Amino acid sequence: MAPHSDIAAAAQALREGQLVAFPTETVYGLGADATNDEAVARVYAAKGRPSFNPLITHVPDLEEAFALGHFTQEAKALARAFWPGPLSLVVPRAASCPVSLLASAGNDSIAIRIPSHPMALDLLKATGRPVVAPSANPSGKISPTTAEHVRRHLKDKVAMVLDGGRCKVGVESSVVSFLADGPKLLRQGGVPRTEIEKVLGHAIAVESHSARPHAPGQLLSHYAPHAELRLNADTPREGEAYLGFGPFHAHGPWTLSARGDLVEAAASLFRLLHEIDATGVTRIAVAPVPHHGLGEAINDRLLRAAAPRDSA
Ligand code: TXA
Ligand code: MG
Repeated sequence: MAPHSDIAAAAQALREGQLVAFPTETVYGLGADATNDEAVARVYAAKGRPSFNPLITHVPDLEEAFALGHFTQEAKALARAFWPGPLSLVVPRAASCPVSLLASAGNDSIAIRIPSHPMALDLLKATGRPVVAPSANPSGKISPTTAEHVRRHLKDKVAMVLDGGRCKVGVESSVVSFLADGPKLLRQGGVPRTEIEKVLGHAIAVESHSARPHAPGQLLSHYAPHAELRLNADTPREGEAYLGFGPFHAHGPWTLSARGDLVEAAASLFRLLHEIDATGVTRIAVAPVPHHGLGEAINDRLLRAAAPRDSA
């Protein structure tokens, strides 16, 4: 177990916007302050993910969990039965939810979990903020179950790696969503489906992400603004709002990053799209965003938002 001073230092690093790898009972997590847009953006950069998958927000107790989202009675029953433990619940975001929209990949839902590893709980309490944590592995590599696994790939990207020994569960949390279309098992994980069904008192629909076609409009995490998007636009046309980047930012109030910083751009992407949408404009022109680093994920999301919509 890490000494108390390590937990305090890690909590401090998180509050300063740095990344900290920490043990949970499932796998090691790559943690960041969930309320800090740029810290969340750095998680995607560190993992080298080519797209913005939504992340799980970790909290230390039920009260905090229930404040972040809208839980149905069934969702609360699962929370009470399995938390702290290897279950994540996806619920609609509360209006007052302070978690970065980037962590929700622009959706109005949020995935929440209370881990049971004592060091994770200590860290969350000491940090005093919700913490996003995807598995602490580079994109495409297997999930780490020892601190050594994390150090091997992510050492240079994190302020600290807390060592809590080998993860007992060893596979990621089960993910269950409670959105408008009823309960669904989105990812099989540490809590078996049969255990979940025992608490619910009925069978649960299974719908894995990987089974879904990666086409625009069909991804669960797909977020599209109401306005139509035109990409790689040097300059806005008549009637278009302009979303700038780098040198292309002199056309209006909305800029992903005036200094051309991709972390800053990722951090503000969903917030700005929502803001522009809220003005009621029907067309948004978006400046060119380079395709390296986080630019890959930003362009992936912009392309999907710009793709023709289903009429549904
Ligand atoms: O065991 C775990 O859950 C580990 C430890 C560190 O807590 N974390 C983890 O996070 O596996 P990650 O980012 O590797 O996986 C997050 C999963 C993905 O399948 C993602 O699509 C789903 O949760 N997810 C997160 N937010 C969601 C949302 N709003 N709607 C639907 N799915 C969501
Ligand atoms: Mg993962």
